[in-house]
Amino acid sequence: MTDLDQMRAHMLTAIDAAAGLDALDAVRVEALGKQGRVTQMLKTLGAMSADQRQVEGPRIQGLRTAVADAIAARKETLERAALDARLASETLDMTLPADAPLTGTIHPVSQVMDELAEIFADLGFAVATGPEIEDDWHNFTALNIPESHPARAMHDTFYCEPQASTNGAARMLLRTHTSPVQIRTMLSQKPPIRIIAPGRTYRSDSDATHTPMFHQVEGLVIDKGITLGHLKWTLETFLKAFFERDDIALRLRPSYFPFTEPSAEVDVGYTIVKGKRVIGGSEGWMEVLGSGMVHRKVIAACGLDPDEWQGFAFGCGIDRLAMLKYGMDDLRPFFDGDIRWLKHYGFSALDVPTLSGGVGA
Ligand code: PHE
Repeated sequence: MTDLDQMRAHMLTAIDAAAGLDALDAVRVEALGKQGRVTQMLKTLGAMSADQRQVEGPRIQGLRTAVADAIAARKETLERAALDARLASETLDMTLPADAPLTGTIHPVSQVMDELAEIFADLGFAVATGPEIEDDWHNFTALNIPESHPARAMHDTFYCEPQASTNGAARMLLRTHTSPVQIRTMLSQKPPIRIIAPGRTYRSDSDATHTPMFHQVEGLVIDKGITLGHLKWTLETFLKAFFERDDIALRLRPSYFPFTEPSAEVDVGYTIVKGKRVIGGSEGWMEVLGSGMVHRKVIAACGLDPDEWQGFAFGCGIDRLAMLKYGMDDLRPFFDGDIRWLKHYGFSALDVPTLSGGVGA
């Protein structure tokens, strides 16, 4: 074994034995630093004859590369271990009781979700949920939005990195609407179905009235002999209960969604009171939700016979509902986590909405 081989073996052992990043750096300085042993050897090349240099040059350079590579690999291992240890130790148990006096409030979005559950429970609807990280099939394909459909582009979808293990075939995404819960419910439950599905949704969009994460509530009814009349009555009953007024005027406008046919956008009438829009009356119209009769293709994609089962669906922005009901005019502070905003707009944890006590809290 030559001196060089011995030195290489010695250094590689020291690198493997370095127990922490500091120890590893000490080995690096000793080998590759300005005064390091490998650096010193490289310096001897200048004094060699050309023939000798031809032989020794590549050997010493090879040693340098081997040592540098081994250090880089060991560094990565140590860093990963340090990160794993940190992740394992820095846990936060959200279920522990708070040790400070409670200063938080129920967020208006949570409040509105509770109100929706209460109102729809009274109409016989259960609450359904689905994952926020969805696959293409549930978010688009099963909803009659095939690969080439322009609606895919319209949704400004956030896609996840393709996973190597699946060859990029099952690229996951952040659901762009709550409509995939329609599919999941129809696949897992036998009709008749009556559900609402409130939850977070995501689109790459951001201004005073759009945030990349927002909330929707989906409604789905599947039964025999369901018509547009059932849809209109349900929405009217819901909005009257939600805004706690009887003079709610609805306007259904023909529209297009790939997963409903026919489709209707629903406007609710408002009146101007002291310069502010107040829901009720019909001085002006504001769009609040999208809806329609569930498309035959969607019913069939879920393994049901569309000649036997029909239904309606609707999707509604929850943040928007909260703004209209509780008078916020900017959406962005909803997600700032500012305790002053929460104190002003939030609700007491004891003000659980009930139909008898009022869903307005
Ligand atoms: N998913 C649609 C959207 O996000 C809303 C919708 C739901 C329309 C159900 C019709 C039926 O815009």
